[in-house]
Amino acid sequence: MISLRIRKFVSLIRERGFDGALVSPSANFYYLTGLHVHEAGERLTLLVVNADGSYHLLAPSLYENVIRNFPVTFWRDGENPYHKLAWILGELELSGGRLLVEDTMRADWLINILRIGNRAFELYPLSSVIRELRMRKEREEVEMMKHAAKVADRVFEEVLSWDILGMRERELALKIELRIRELSDGISFEPIVASGENAANPHHAPGDRRIREGDMVILDYGAKVGGYCSDITRTIAVGQPNEKLVEVYNVVKEAQENAYRAVREGVKAKEIDRAARETIAKAGYGEYFTHRTGHGLGLDVHEEPFIGPDGEVTLENGMTFTIEPGIYVPGLGGVRIEDDIILDEGRGKRLTRANRELVVL
Ligand code: CO
Ligand code: CO
Repeated sequence: MISLRIRKFVSLIRERGFDGALVSPSANFYYLTGLHVHEAGERLTLLVVNADGSYHLLAPSLYENVIRNFPVTFWRDGENPYHKLAWILGELELSGGRLLVEDTMRADWLINILRIGNRAFELYPLSSVIRELRMRKEREEVEMMKHAAKVADRVFEEVLSWDILGMRERELALKIELRIRELSDGISFEPIVASGENAANPHHAPGDRRIREGDMVILDYGAKVGGYCSDITRTIAVGQPNEKLVEVYNVVKEAQENAYRAVREGVKAKEIDRAARETIAKAGYGEYFTHRTGHGLGLDVHEEPFIGPDGEVTLENGMTFTIEPGIYVPGLGGVRIEDDIILDEGRGKRLTRANRELVVL
């Protein structure tokens, strides 16, 4: 499967007129090689791809027992890895031209690479091309995403059985994280727990505030399975909530549903955003919906296609993304509801199945 991905990648970059690619450890690196090498840290690790179909890996010798069945050159601490890279570039006959570079590559690596020999490369961000492959999930990728979404659903069910009244936000976030780690390969990002007026901040970092009677609490978290992320948000009430917030909850739920129903093969991402945004604006809360409606989901928790007012990507079967409208009223609180969606057989299907009705604990 992996070498098939590299083959697909090679024909895509050739089609787009590129001469090669340099891929440092990242989701793209994992996508192409199936190798987990994030622990390499500052040690130069690179997949070098030539558009003619040849490729070679440079890796620290720490991975000698891990990387097998892959064309690879190892370097030891004390050696200059850039000398070995120069040799690889020579072997692959990659001496200039249009080169794709992993977007998240460390600047010190890129600076050193550009100093190797007298090569004239024109650099482009790798994401601009590889996104075409990564946006459309293969069957095995979808299976892992379903599993990751199930873990998130299950943790939500469990949270509803916990006594969270009086708990600090950070304690609840830690408990959620612990359960995710017990049930999956890990968290897809640090869980968000935002209670009461803190919920008016969409990306609130859980703090020392204790959950009180009458709070609405936003929970936003996700699990990773086989590298693939889930991302769920639910807003729950502890004790009888403020009437205004109940109204806000119903508007967000309707916006989320309308955006979900707008998912069709062939529509642009911005149409999904518009469905959510119009629902919220009509209810008079337009100015309090301060972010895009959603984002693509996969190996990265935020990836293409982004579901925002400027989303020009045309949606296709196999794409996976979130729909997560929210309303945030300063001084009062906030509500967000987020599901993971796959476009399948021409329409949207929810991967997230957790209860979307307002739960009052
Ligand atoms: Co989220
Ligand atoms: Co999200």
